[in-house]
Amino acid sequence: MTSAISVDSISKCYRIRQSARGKYGTDLADDLVNLFGSIVRGRIPRSSFHEFWALRDVSLEIRPGETVALLGPNGAGKSTLLKILSRVVRPTSGSATLKGRVGSLLEVGTGFHPDLTGRANVFLAGAILGLSRAEIRRRFDEIVDFAGVEAFVDTPVKRYSSGMYTRLAFSVAAHLEADILLVDEVLAVGDAQFQRKCLGRMDAVASEGRTVVFVSHNLAQVRSLCRRGIVFEKGRLSLDTGIDEAISGYLSSLGGSSPSCWIAPPDHAREAPMRFLRVGVAGGGVEELAVRGTDAPIDLEFDIEIDRRERSAQLAVRIVNDEGLPVLTTAPEDVGLDFCSAVGRRKLGVRIPAGLLAPGRYSCLCNLHIPGVVSFDLLDGVPAFEVQETRTTTRGDDHRKGVVAPRLDWNLE
Ligand SMILES: Nc1ncnc2c1ncn2[C@@H]1O[C@H](COP(=O)(O)OP(=O)(O)OP(=O)(O)O)[C@@H](O)[C@H]1O
Ligand SMILES: [Mg+2]
Repeated sequence: MTSAISVDSISKCYRIRQSARGKYGTDLADDLVNLFGSIVRGRIPRSSFHEFWALRDVSLEIRPGETVALLGPNGAGKSTLLKILSRVVRPTSGSATLKGRVGSLLEVGTGFHPDLTGRANVFLAGAILGLSRAEIRRRFDEIVDFAGVEAFVDTPVKRYSSGMYTRLAFSVAAHLEADILLVDEVLAVGDAQFQRKCLGRMDAVASEGRTVVFVSHNLAQVRSLCRRGIVFEKGRLSLDTGIDEAISGYLSSLGGSSPSCWIAPPDHAREAPMRFLRVGVAGGGVEELAVRGTDAPIDLEFDIEIDRRERSAQLAVRIVNDEGLPVLTTAPEDVGLDFCSAVGRRKLGVRIPAGLLAPGRYSCLCNLHIPGVVSFDLLDGVPAFEVQETRTTTRGDDHRKGVVAPRLDWNLE
């Protein structure tokens, strides 16, 4: 099958002007003062340039219908690549070929003409994509409805709030039947409900067999939408693989584990026949402690690598409250799950039901072991999380005091 997107050794070099004092010449006032000073002194300032490679020798192929996330720390070159693919920026060398119509949503502010109304911008965007007026008209109501800007379609978009603007821009990009959808970060602008709606829409676009390339620092969104992840580091492509592995690779390249998402350092428990690769609270970020409401379940995830089968090996997870009291211990074996019957990687998950744990902080003790014989890998303190009361109550704080706080079924005869 031919590629939807084909990137051939693309590099992008930015030349950044550096003032004599070695600072980047971005401050206009500073520059003017220097310029006039130099002219008065009869010298024309010579600016020096500093070369910066935002992308270096990047090659990749994306097939039609793939959903691909570009991952990487700030400044890694993700947006630069999307801009090159959308032809907003030209590469310094190399080339990119895209097959079909490209809908792109880069940063807030690109694409729309501020003086035109929402309606006119939708038609303009459609025309740029090569659609006929009739085709755009057919989709118009759906676009405006999705964006929730019915009341403002005849208002110039410069009067829109940034949220409204993004909603309409996303809606246009996602509904105009582009074959390739490029989305950079913008969903961060909308509220949680709109973000969910956008993800649903992108999912629908993908399931219609169209190609989606998505940049987001929200790894939960990325994981739910994309099947493939490409990681960038300092302008170079460092990893191109399945989404779960790409996310783990990206997180470990950041070198940051947090109590809610622990990632094995290189060579962790190397000599053991099995080991933890990652343990975490689902949807928990690397930077912070995951907080869950008492009305929501808590999903714990365990990525394990098994080099050698060990018949009676087990995984035990003990949840300990902040007073050090074990609240419960759970194991896949409890429900007859044998996770260790073959070598390779395993992904295990367990759900702690909503409302079980009392508000407070918890951490886990995770043990890959043969009970009473040997422990292959033992993690103490991860993953950790906090449970907060989300139901309002008219009674005092103490009325649900206890190690656990399930809502039990009461009856009255
Ligand atoms: N117009 C420009 N002039 C000079 N340097 C630029 C320009 N645009 C981007 N850069 C630089 O290129 C590098 C890559 O930027 P890019 O926006 O692609 O990063 P990114 O991976 O999207 O990061 P983020 O996660 O912060 O959005 C950065 O160091 C940035 O400062
Ligand atoms: Mg960016």
